[in-house]
Amino acid sequence: MTTQSTPVCYQNGTYVPLAEATVPLLDPGFTRGDSVYDTTSVWKGQFFRLDDHVDRFFESCAKNRLAPPVTKDEAKHVLAECAHRAGVEDAFVQAISTRGPYASPTNRDPRSCQNTFYALAMPYIWIVRPERQDVGIDLHIVTGNRRTPRESIDPTMKNFNWLDLTKGWFEALDRGSDNAVLCSPDGYLSEGPGFNMFVVKDGVLRTPRGNVLEGITRRSAIELAGLLGMSAEEADLWPQELTTADEAFICSTAGGIMPVATVDGVPLGHGTGPGPVSTRFRTEYWARREAGWHGTPVADLVG
Ligand SMILES: Cc1ncc(COP(=O)(O)O)c(C=O)c1O
Repeated sequence: MTTQSTPVCYQNGTYVPLAEATVPLLDPGFTRGDSVYDTTSVWKGQFFRLDDHVDRFFESCAKNRLAPPVTKDEAKHVLAECAHRAGVEDAFVQAISTRGPYASPTNRDPRSCQNTFYALAMPYIWIVRPERQDVGIDLHIVTGNRRTPRESIDPTMKNFNWLDLTKGWFEALDRGSDNAVLCSPDGYLSEGPGFNMFVVKDGVLRTPRGNVLEGITRRSAIELAGLLGMSAEEADLWPQELTTADEAFICSTAGGIMPVATVDGVPLGHGTGPGPVSTRFRTEYWARREAGWHGTPVADLVG
């Protein structure tokens, strides 16, 4: 791991310490949650699936009618420069586009806004600390609210509208769970704050489809299943398919493959702690990343 880190932000064409980065108060990115983003990561100096993240970022922008003032190549260069300047080998690296300030405070026409591009890099963030991953998390199935319907806000557009996710997360924390998975409006499992999920039953992996972000770690887990000779599929999954699973894991850029040990306090079918498939996927994911799987060295993009 790294020694000294200086979290960095790119805004208005310059690099500043993240602690000094600001957003104009009347940017609808702040007042309306009118913004999209993407998070990629750097591990041992290499981006993971950088092109996939940058492609998804620009797709999210297009879905929200945002035109950030950068090309894909410029965005990649800025992300790499942030990671380099942050001085960490293992980094959390984010691209953000907001609607941008209105032409004047009394003009509410979204077409008048100058869309923005920000980027930032800081030390790698774990949704679940590695020590906690070793024993597996307790996942709570949220009952108090549902994931926003995809007809209202397209979940494949990675966005900062997290009120539903955060409400569910609080419900989980209040009852002593580590984290939460929300159901879609039609009652199927969807996703949690910052992660997708998989269930494993009789050696087959399944992940919710439909009302979810098509996560890049989720895509990687499906690919990994193919590499390991296992089957993985997207499916409509009822909550009972989680509670009766042999094992389960959550997955995200921020933490990789993170085993679930219990659901609402009840151990999954395989018994105590992380299951063998989840453990194997977690190990393979990190080993392959360290070996350069889908990697782009930061050093190749800076300078
Ligand atoms: C709502 C949501 N689902 C899933 C994910 C996981 O996506 P990825 O694997 O691309 O990080 C994220 C990541 O932030 C997310 O915010």
